[in-house]
Amino acid sequence: MNSTSLKKLREIVGSENVLDSLESRIAYSYDATAIKPQLPFAVVRPHAAEEISEIVKLANEERFPIVPRGSGTGLSGGALPMENAIVLLTNHWNHILEIDQENLTVTVEPGVITGQLHQAVEKLGFLYPPDPGSSSICTIGGNVAENSGGLRGLKYGVTKNYVLGLEVVLPTGEILHTGGKSVKDVAGYNLKDVLIGSEGTLGIFTKILLKIIPKPETSKTMIAFYSSMDDAAKTVSAVIAAKITPAMLEFLDNTTIRCVEDYTHLGLPVDAEAMLLIEVDGRKGVVEEDATRITEICRHHNAASIKIAHDEQESVKLKTARRAAFTSLARVKPTTIMEDVAVPRADLVKLVARIREIGKKNDVPIGNFGHAGDGNLHPNYLTDERNAEDFARATKTVFEVEEAAIELGGTITGEHGVGLYKKPLLEKMVGSPSIQMMRTLKQMMDPNNILNPGKIFDLKPRCEGPLPRDREQIKKFEDVAWI
Ligand code: LAC
Ligand code: ZN
Repeated sequence: MNSTSLKKLREIVGSENVLDSLESRIAYSYDATAIKPQLPFAVVRPHAAEEISEIVKLANEERFPIVPRGSGTGLSGGALPMENAIVLLTNHWNHILEIDQENLTVTVEPGVITGQLHQAVEKLGFLYPPDPGSSSICTIGGNVAENSGGLRGLKYGVTKNYVLGLEVVLPTGEILHTGGKSVKDVAGYNLKDVLIGSEGTLGIFTKILLKIIPKPETSKTMIAFYSSMDDAAKTVSAVIAAKITPAMLEFLDNTTIRCVEDYTHLGLPVDAEAMLLIEVDGRKGVVEEDATRITEICRHHNAASIKIAHDEQESVKLKTARRAAFTSLARVKPTTIMEDVAVPRADLVKLVARIREIGKKNDVPIGNFGHAGDGNLHPNYLTDERNAEDFARATKTVFEVEEAAIELGGTITGEHGVGLYKKPLLEKMVGSPSIQMMRTLKQMMDPNNILNPGKIFDLKPRCEGPLPRDREQIKKFEDVAWI
């Protein structure tokens, strides 16, 4: 990347859409992950798939990396640039192009904010279920790139369950269309599912076709507090065993409850060991029945107190206790490392016990919250990156917890992606044949390693790659990542 490449970029997207001032480069040098920022060479703001295609072709000719970016809310370093890279923004590209009520689909540009899509379809009586914690600021393009989950995963699934079609600029610059409005479509390999969750390494989404569903008639939200983690976990199992599938079944531990109360003053009992947030939705009669049955189950498992929301306003208030979890924990120490392990639901209590043990051994304060119904937990390691010793203990804890999740038959990431900081354990988790297949796919689709190089896995063998440039980039990356 040099001034000639910059000039060519300006010719493609217009001068006003190429930002290379130090301020702009600093603004796009990080995402929401606790990893050392890295200045990109420049930032570009294309406005059409054809422009992106030209940029990608230029990058192949001149061998500079491209890092696609939505709102930068990612929690695994997916949008973190590398030296010599351009950050390619899509967040200004934010129109809902069509809501097709007959086919139950919406077509959107990648920069549409997830929460705005929720509002737009709900006004018409529909629901777009994926609901990441950051829904008020994250983009659909980013959600597809990371295959984001969220609070409604238990009943409704995650982003991939709602993507019907994609327009994608491939790493070599071709524009590919895959999927469509047909509910059934088995024509050829399922390329869509290879691209979803590819974390910016296999394509840049320029148009996204999503499925929507009829909005449930009503919902009921409740929270229950426990003086024992075990009782909260038993409640989760008992709700599932009662054949009820709540839309939300979320968990906060004592550290998180305290931090949330400190921040929000919602009146949460700060001595509670665990809090469950439960929401059921559907037909009115069924919702009433399920809610009653759930409160009975909570009581049976010794819930110390239960609050039920009687209207929308109260429901929002109860959900605030959960949605404010990360922000509240992040106020405690200068650095918060957010983890994202998941295990089979029934083993959640074992995972929480292991996390506590590991945290205690390494002397790292941990606040746990997450999607109990999905077995997906977000331990938050509270640390200070300026203190090398403290930070080293926290990062050691990250690995030990990830190993514990693997041992329990779970995963190192349920919904935040591998990005940079989960790379070291990916192979251990998925096995050599899988990682080799991923590398082969990346090398085949992106022979010059242009799109988001060094994310998810390193290309191997590192020292024998055909492109000296790749080696340089990857080596630089090792300095950037804190692991
Ligand atoms: C959440 C994000 C952090 O669950 O995944 O709030
Ligand atoms: Zn989450």
